Amino acid sequence: MAFLIGSKTHDVDAWASALRGELPEIEVRVWPDGIGRPEEIEYTLLQRQIRVDYKAFPNLKAIFTLGAGVDHVAADPAVPAHVPIVRLVSPALVERMSEYVLYWVLHYHRDFHVYRRLERERRWHKLRGPDAARRRVGIMGLGRLGGDAAAKLAGLGFAVAGWSRTPKTLAGVEGFHGASGLADFLGRTEILVCLLPLTPGTAGIIDAANLALLPRGAFVINAARGEHVVDADLLAALDSGRLAAATLDVFPSEPLPADHPYWRHPKVTVTPHVASWNTIETAAAELAENLRRIGAGRAPHPVVDRTAGY
Ligand code: NDP
Ligand code: OXD
Repeated sequence: MAFLIGSKTHDVDAWASALRGELPEIEVRVWPDGIGRPEEIEYTLLQRQIRVDYKAFPNLKAIFTLGAGVDHVAADPAVPAHVPIVRLVSPALVERMSEYVLYWVLHYHRDFHVYRRLERERRWHKLRGPDAARRRVGIMGLGRLGGDAAAKLAGLGFAVAGWSRTPKTLAGVEGFHGASGLADFLGRTEILVCLLPLTPGTAGIIDAANLALLPRGAFVINAARGEHVVDADLLAALDSGRLAAATLDVFPSEPLPADHPYWRHPKVTVTPHVASWNTIETAAAELAENLRRIGAGRAPHPVVDRTAGY
């Protein structure tokens, strides 16, 4: 069996040797130079920036994604319907995403965005915001990432709500779901965090109509996909004062073009798609376990539901 791995930013040699360590029987090949004979490739683990024609691998048994997001493969018509797409969500990926979310929620909750400006103006001025229990944070997407972030925010005492497609019960988190639950969820949310997968049902969800449902002076943190946000609507909401500030980690076109208005907007913080990432130390065992499951005729986990798109 040959396992093809590829990444433009990870240390692929380290990933390859960790995989060989877990499963000495597999032959790990590294994209692009080491692909070899495509018909020998049974598994792929490729970063989303790497686009391949999956039709070129006629004996594929599973496609692993090097990140949690699967929008790039789930919508790819070249991926045969019988080949499972398996998300790689390592413990490190989950922890890092929660760190990112907690950092920015605390940043806005404790007015550090204002102190940044006051410091530049050399003004000594104390702000007294609400207690965490009266700060209403809303997480869109209560999956592996959103669920962990919501639980950790609830643990810090925030008034947390989550919005999912199907009903969810999470301790300390008020649950909303489906299209019918969206307006109430947004109406109570002062700090909105997007951790949704990108699907036809979620693309453009942060638009003028939904931003208008947030309380005046709300914050938006998007660490999911750039396509969730309608950029012109977000900028208009920031300029009108409806939104106080936004932190954006993801963009439809990455790197974010140098002339994009987000770079220079005083209320926008841009981070370069670094909210989280998988590390081989915590992912190798998970990958090996999935290969063993497939070898034993069992389903890998978590498999993407191709109809739902995530
Ligand atoms: P999951 O698939 O585990 O969770 C997705 C959540 O979104 C679920 O709660 C699901 O609802 C909900 N959801 C999906 N569709 C809808 C809808 N139409 N309406 C309401 N809720 C919906 O995903 P993860 O938590 O693992 O990852 C989320 C996303 O984070 C990834 O898809 C990726 O785009 C992004 N990401 C970004 C990274 C970064 O560095 N910026 C790093 C890693 C991931 P239900 O529970 O009912 O199924
Ligand atoms: C991912 C990502 O999906 O990096 O893991 O966005």
